[in-house]
Amino acid sequence: MRVLVLGSGAREHAIVRSLLAEDGVEHVVAAPGNPGIAAAGAECRDHDLADIAGVAELAVGVQADLVVVGPEAPLVAGVADAVRAAGIPCFGPSAPAARLEASKAFAKEVMAAAGVATARPVVCDDLGAVEAALDELGTPHVVKDDGLAGGKGVVVTDDRETALRHARACLSQPRGRVVVEEYLDGPEVSVFCVCDGRDVVALAPAQDFKRLRDGGLGPNTGGMGAYSPLPWLLDGFVEEVVETVARPVLVEMDRRGTPFTGILYCGLALTDAGVRVVEFNVRLGDPEAQVVLARLRTPLAPLLLAAAQGRLAEHVRVLGGLVESADAAVGVVVAAPGYPEQPRTGDAVLGLEDVAAVPGAHVLHAGTALDDDGHVRTAGGRVLTVVGTGPDVATARERAYEAVEKVHVPGGQLRLDVAAGV
Ligand code: AMP
Ligand code: GLY
Repeated sequence: MRVLVLGSGAREHAIVRSLLAEDGVEHVVAAPGNPGIAAAGAECRDHDLADIAGVAELAVGVQADLVVVGPEAPLVAGVADAVRAAGIPCFGPSAPAARLEASKAFAKEVMAAAGVATARPVVCDDLGAVEAALDELGTPHVVKDDGLAGGKGVVVTDDRETALRHARACLSQPRGRVVVEEYLDGPEVSVFCVCDGRDVVALAPAQDFKRLRDGGLGPNTGGMGAYSPLPWLLDGFVEEVVETVARPVLVEMDRRGTPFTGILYCGLALTDAGVRVVEFNVRLGDPEAQVVLARLRTPLAPLLLAAAQGRLAEHVRVLGGLVESADAAVGVVVAAPGYPEQPRTGDAVLGLEDVAAVPGAHVLHAGTALDDDGHVRTAGGRVLTVVGTGPDVATARERAYEAVEKVHVPGGQLRLDVAAGV
């Protein structure tokens, strides 16, 4: 099979790493990819993912049997529709189905229709409505930009002024809209559901460390670390998520004539009142994918192709279910100085080859680029994810941090408490 993977982060590096380890995959092209993806053996094509028609042409040109879309923006812009129109199976939702991530108000509307439990929302088109909603819902205040905001759309605060300032900033944009919602108290879990429009199979749950600094302090980020499995989850948790969240959403999306194919990323809070949806995304999470895929033993390419072709249930039945390693995986993100506000780029990244000396560890590239001499330099906010695996979370964690010590990113930021005390 020839696979085209769209994206350039550590999530896409993890996808490519899994694909290249599979017998059935003869060639992987990544667009645009990154130096780590190229070093892993994929062919990188410099390509602007905003050019949807160009992506479909590329898929045809490289004779892809399957296109796997990493990030949300091209999905929202319709890349899956364009690839499918060119006759190539695509793992990722259509533009209308990707609205589950592109509009928080839309996601709430679908959840209400599907009977899925989530934080009670108030959708606001002006500041007066926001003020009334803040009064009604109380503290902590949760204020969300309705649209895609690259991880910067949500403010959780006890301070009314901070909440209003964020709402004002969101409302000042063209077609600006804000969702104010009830605060959900409890640990967060990410569950990635592979969907084919009608059927669903869940991958192993993971936990993401969203704040920049240890102890959950500092600003929200794209994610600073992750681990899987979550030994503290109750038996039956994944089945509950599939039956009470993913499946009802699939039924509702199908009823609307916009069936959902791809990853339905269920961001969940385990509250005293039960499991509640915090958010939906329409693609694998980053950095959760880096640990979930490190544990997945079921070949990825045929699984995603089956989902893209609407024959997931049959595929999984023949497999006898998905196989996940009993090993644990812990991922630690190394971010550039200044991330998330203003990451500094252009610094030399040293020690990458020394990671191989740590058993069970590997490094995935994100914001990296090669300089004229072929040396790796920082080129983005999140630079690397260093992954450790081992028989339990504690061992995987030790290996991840041992491997992180080998790598040098000047001024690099990382959390030291990823998967601590699990
Ligand atoms: P989102 O972009 O919706 O995932 O939100 C980013 C982060 O903000 C989540 O992972 C949570 O940590 C936090 N968050 C979002 N919604 C809520 C909520 N209703 N209650 C508490 N925290 C929330
Ligand atoms: N890790 C959170 C996300 O990918 O949105």
